[in-house]
Amino acid sequence: MSTPARIQTPYLTAEDELDRSLRPRRLCDFVGQDTLRDQFMVAIEAASGRGEALDHVLLAGPPGLGKTSLAQIIAAELEVPFVQTAGPALERKGDIASFLTALEPHSVFFVDEIHRLPRTLEETFYPAMEDRRLPITVGQGAGARVVTLDLPPFTLIGATTRSGLLSTPLRDRFGIQGRLEHYGIEDLTTIVKRSASILEISLEEDGAIALATRSRGTPRVANRLLKRVRDYAEVRMGGVVTAEAANAALELLEVDERGLDRLDREILRIICVKFAGGPVGLSTLAVAVGEEQDTIEEVYEPYLLQEGLIKRTPRGRAATAAAYSHLGIDAPAAHPAGTQALLL
Ligand SMILES: Nc1ncnc2c1ncn2[C@@H]1O[C@H](COP(=O)(O)OP(=O)(O)OP(=O)(O)O)[C@@H](O)[C@H]1O
Ligand SMILES: [Mg+2]
Repeated sequence: MSTPARIQTPYLTAEDELDRSLRPRRLCDFVGQDTLRDQFMVAIEAASGRGEALDHVLLAGPPGLGKTSLAQIIAAELEVPFVQTAGPALERKGDIASFLTALEPHSVFFVDEIHRLPRTLEETFYPAMEDRRLPITVGQGAGARVVTLDLPPFTLIGATTRSGLLSTPLRDRFGIQGRLEHYGIEDLTTIVKRSASILEISLEEDGAIALATRSRGTPRVANRLLKRVRDYAEVRMGGVVTAEAANAALELLEVDERGLDRLDREILRIICVKFAGGPVGLSTLAVAVGEEQDTIEEVYEPYLLQEGLIKRTPRGRAATAAAYSHLGIDAPAAHPAGTQALLL
């Protein structure tokens, strides 16, 4: 999950280490997101053929779906340097200037969490992206003057879990805009098999499918669960990750057969029971669940929405009939699912 805290952390967490070791390096290792991958294949080949920098790219989508991986892959395929920073780390115009002026021509400049860039700094990027110009003010007071720096050709790749927070003028300056979607079971199965072979875990086909099914459509979750399941298989099942081992381990980790974890279910339970199915506002929901509003919106909600367990209404989030049946509880009569049940 992307939080400013993680960016500022001077050491790598275990999850960062895992991400790094399992990160696909080339486009051919990047599983799924077929349309997006094809688009990049064409754009990269065309830009390389013309000897130009690739158009600026915006990658949007929930955490752990491969935005950072894809940005690094793009630089690798273009065979250009990859320079990385994050929205919260850019505080002043000078921060951007020092990055941009130091870029080698055609480099990829990756700005993670670009939606956290201060609004005033977004404007600094406009001329830099459009005309490779960076006007900066030198000096102070009456003696201050504007100097325009020429920049080398470069590709800005912005990653965001919340593209809605970007201003339209900034968003419009990205020539290529890609949205990463949750992965299907087949793709996740391929991903866990690849990870298992890198980590030298013996994983059976059924075990891979069981893991893929419970990974809430997210490669990072799949990789994390794979490691936990390996522990379980080593301690209790003789080391081989079978479907039985995977299911038993995931049960222990409180990940259910639909991939929902404890907090996912808590969110559903609170909407269904405490708020009679909703709608309930996001801030109220966050307080009731005891979790940050941003985390609910960026991490939990996209999957619950995609699974059809909740829906967004103008007055807040509401549970669907599927949420009640997943939790195994009856919908109240006032809820559309309850009425439906009565009518049937
Ligand atoms: N398409 C993919 N094929 C194989 N592995 C993938 C793919 N996408 C993601 N992964 C795995 O998931 C991990 C997390 O991906 P990545 O860090 O790129 O996600 P992200 O979208 O940048 O997440 P965040 O929003 O939290 O920064 C990677 O290290 C990689 O192991
Ligand atoms: Mg990332």
